[in-house]
Amino acid sequence: MSQDTTRIAAEAVARQMAYCDRMLALNEGRAVPPRALVDTYGCQQNEADSERLRGYLRAMGYDMTEREDEADVIVINTCAIREHAEDRVFGNIGALVHTKRRNPAQIICLCGCMAQEEHVAERIRGSFRHVDLVFGPHALWKFPELLWRVVSRRGRVFETTDEPGSIAEGIPLLRKEGVKAWVSIMYGCNNFCTYCIVPHVRGRERSRAPEIILDEVRALVGQGYRDITFLGQNVNSYGKDLGLAVDFADLLRMANEIPGEFLLRFMTSHPKDASQKLFETMASCEKAAPHFHLPVQAGNDRVLRAMNRSYTRQGYLDKVTALRAVIPDVVITSDVIVGFPGETAEEFEDTMTLIKQVRYDALFTFLYSPRKGTPAAEMEDPMPREEKMTHFQRLVDTQNEISAEKHQAYVGQTVRCLIDGKGEDARNNLTARTPGNRLVHLSGDAALIGTLQEIQITSASTWALFGEIR
Ligand code: 5AD
Ligand code: SF4
Repeated sequence: MSQDTTRIAAEAVARQMAYCDRMLALNEGRAVPPRALVDTYGCQQNEADSERLRGYLRAMGYDMTEREDEADVIVINTCAIREHAEDRVFGNIGALVHTKRRNPAQIICLCGCMAQEEHVAERIRGSFRHVDLVFGPHALWKFPELLWRVVSRRGRVFETTDEPGSIAEGIPLLRKEGVKAWVSIMYGCNNFCTYCIVPHVRGRERSRAPEIILDEVRALVGQGYRDITFLGQNVNSYGKDLGLAVDFADLLRMANEIPGEFLLRFMTSHPKDASQKLFETMASCEKAAPHFHLPVQAGNDRVLRAMNRSYTRQGYLDKVTALRAVIPDVVITSDVIVGFPGETAEEFEDTMTLIKQVRYDALFTFLYSPRKGTPAAEMEDPMPREEKMTHFQRLVDTQNEISAEKHQAYVGQTVRCLIDGKGEDARNNLTARTPGNRLVHLSGDAALIGTLQEIQITSASTWALFGEIR
């Protein structure tokens, strides 16, 4: 995609800020400051999008709330990756009929990946008449204008036109306070894995300019953020559309040169674009966290081909070997789909052997979910659900054993970790993360949040480590 067509002009973003001002003028006339709730489903990209929605809402004069009953505006930012997530959203929007009945002036908005699906927008139009505004990821940058249209005309607004996608810079952000921050470095996906809805709803790959990203990182470090995650559907193909001879490894190296004590992480990587150059760059950049999320999806070559993953089992394993050769203690995590249409019991065994061979630190396991409009949804899928569930459980059990063993190996070690928040139980009142992003529970003074500490790991479970500050 050409840069001229994907970049939203600065004047167009300025117009959105002018709509924020109009909303602000309206809201300032009210006795009590209005409140807004942004509810986020799905991946970190959606979390990052919600930070933009909150940034806009704050500029319009809204205070944030977590309570549906006291919100003047509710924005539900949805995920379309699996049917289960969609069902939950429909359930929750359905329940908002009651809150809106008590507060008829309440404005209910639905956005995110589901909103970009035609059949969802149609269902909302027909059956969820209390929803006032529906807009997809492509229209997020126009949120102030869309909300203004709802408020000024009191009519429903649907903005779900399909397009390759754009980049709008200069949208205000309201980030979560703390020590971790997301930075979107690119949007969209060109890979069209046959099971995946993302390319259909988020458009084509487009990269933000490196200097804008680096400025953002610099500002975040200045504000005290210590753990910064670069986000994209496939960060490894960053820069291909820019024509600047800057790839993801170059971006990482440039970010590494920014002064300050902080870690750089990234999500997600497609194995086909995970290069030796990137592995070596990670190894030589002291701020690049030794963690690589490298989704494999399946361990069988026929299934990988049917998924359109464009690598083989052996090709994937070679990448893992190359990565471990340069960063021996790297934490590797992955995504696996169980029950892809036509996957046989024997083919599933190849996934089992692969995870035993790689020995991931952690695995995100998904039961295949047909997504309307994707090629896989049209494929024959003869395996009964119960058999898929049996496979799923075996995979989870095996991975849990591996994770527990991997965690056990930390016991006795002292690891420099970032104390990143409050824990849930009184005994372990703090949480920390190892450089490889493993969770550590510990006790200590809350004033330590945001600092790096030497932590001795004293015990471990399948899910987490337990430690003491030395
Ligand atoms: N069904 C199940 N899992 C899916 N994922 C993406 N699409 C589907 C689907 N239709 C999983 C993949 C991806 C992760 C984010 O979600 O494993 O890596
Ligand atoms: Fe979906 Fe594949 Fe793109 Fe990931 S790389 S977002 S799984 S199409």
